[in-house]
Amino acid sequence: MGRPIRFLLDGEVRELHGVDPTLTVLNLLRYDLRRTGTKEGCAEGDCGACTVVLGELEDGRVRFRAVNACILFAPMLDGRALFTVESLKREKGAALHPIQQAMVANHASQCGFCTPGFVMSLYAHQREGAATDSGTLKDALAGNLCRCTGYGPILAAGQAMGADPDARLAEALAVELAGIRATESLEVEHKGRRFLAPRTASELAAAVEAHPDGAILAGGTDVGLWVTKQHRTLPTVISLNEVAELRRVEDLGDAIRIGAAVRYADAEAVLVDLHPEFGEMLRRLGGLQVRNLGTVCGNIANGSPIGDMPPALIAAGATVVLRKGGATRTLPLEGYFLAYGKQDRAPGEFVEAVIVPKIAAGRVFKLFKLSKRFDQDISAVCAGVSIGVEAGRVTDARIAFGGMAATPKRAAACEAALTGRPWTEATVRGAAEALAQDFQPIDDMRASAAYRLQAAKNLILKAWLESSAGAPTRVLEAEAVAHA
Ligand SMILES: Cc1cc2nc3c(=O)[nH]c(=O)nc-3n(C[C@H](O)[C@H](O)[C@H](O)COP(=O)(O)OP(=O)(O)OC[C@H]3O[C@@H](n4cnc5c(N)ncnc54)[C@H](O)[C@@H]3O)c2cc1C
Ligand code: FES
Ligand code: FES
Repeated sequence: MGRPIRFLLDGEVRELHGVDPTLTVLNLLRYDLRRTGTKEGCAEGDCGACTVVLGELEDGRVRFRAVNACILFAPMLDGRALFTVESLKREKGAALHPIQQAMVANHASQCGFCTPGFVMSLYAHQREGAATDSGTLKDALAGNLCRCTGYGPILAAGQAMGADPDARLAEALAVELAGIRATESLEVEHKGRRFLAPRTASELAAAVEAHPDGAILAGGTDVGLWVTKQHRTLPTVISLNEVAELRRVEDLGDAIRIGAAVRYADAEAVLVDLHPEFGEMLRRLGGLQVRNLGTVCGNIANGSPIGDMPPALIAAGATVVLRKGGATRTLPLEGYFLAYGKQDRAPGEFVEAVIVPKIAAGRVFKLFKLSKRFDQDISAVCAGVSIGVEAGRVTDARIAFGGMAATPKRAAACEAALTGRPWTEATVRGAAEALAQDFQPIDDMRASAAYRLQAAKNLILKAWLESSAGAPTRVLEAEAVAHA
């Protein structure tokens, strides 16, 4: 048996020996540690009732991240600090924690079931010293649902909670986290099942080759649900989260390289730098708890036809880097998706990174997501549109859609109908009609086939309208306000 999982809980080092590799942190808290303040609502990362906060040492400082305990496996606590709603408890007779006080003063709890989750999202926000204007708070709380619609008072509590009263303890926490940081890989065994968390890319490559049927685990925002919703038993889980090389975003000059363990929350700034359209797409991808765990490469690797990132990245001209043992190969991202549930990835191979070229100034670059809810909903249709226009003519076009076919897919006929033609409404309307040759979408619970095709055509037109002089631009903040 290897070393134990080691993490901090309210300043105390906790060790877990021989734990079930896919025990969720929610169940660990509720059944083993008897911390029942953390609630289970959906067990699929959607409602935020189970929100806890992870403290992680990054570049010498502690980052506080709200995450969903229901889809977080216990071994993922290794080397981290865990905060639950009980962590806010003060000595008997002492004043309430400022967040508790603000919740009380603003009447921000009704049924109370969702309350610990909201409190913990606010806690992470406060500890990060993030802004408390209503737009920023709404984004931070979009992954928490209050079924009795108490959002107004909860937002008011967020605005009233003030600064982190424990800010001065962050340095000491950094020292404690450095103290429990292990250099050797983690291997957890329990009743013949394993959780492997290698520390280097070559160890990871060896583990994936040795266990070609193992479940590769990045953020677990899909894999967690295999356990909690599909009740699958995973004999071997191989986590890539502890491989420092894979947590890097590198500037290659003309492109950026996003490693397989880079979460959305960490890729956001650099993607927004590539193009602000990525910002609007990412703030609607899951809630913050999902973006704090989920990775850009996980969204590619899972091969979903409705993932938000592939159409955007295909439009940007991204390539994916695959690794098997010591050998790597690179292919255009669109080539990775072969058929529904089938990707160009051999047994023992894994996605090491995605490389996204910088987007030339002046290109028409638009990302669209259509879903029933504004926040944290899966797309019915999503699109990435990248068009070069010179002297009023289209020089080249890369247009990709999600939700329109069995895989994320380029719209070849639509692109051909644009290329070389004047960038005018007539051209664009003709190209939009060509989408019927590219896609025969399906009816499902998210949208009908007819809706999907019509919406896709309209999005092409919208891209043209928004890029034309004097055209109205999207006011997403206003949409968000209307939603809240
Ligand atoms: C509440 C909720 C909301 C969500 N909202 C959205 C949304 O709005 N838009 C959207 O697109 N998705 C959404 N998702 C889905 C999910 O968050 C994303 O697909 C995410 O990017 C998956 O990344 P991950 O790191 O969590 O992957 P994981 O769950 O760890 O893995 C996903 C799959 O990819 C494999 N895998 C992961 N990394 C690699 C790798 N490097 N090499 C090979 N295989 C790998 C895993 O084995 C697994 O099959 C949502 C999920 C939840 C729970
Ligand atoms: S229980 Fe709903 S997000 Fe975890
Ligand atoms: S207070 Fe619990 S759902 Fe609103």
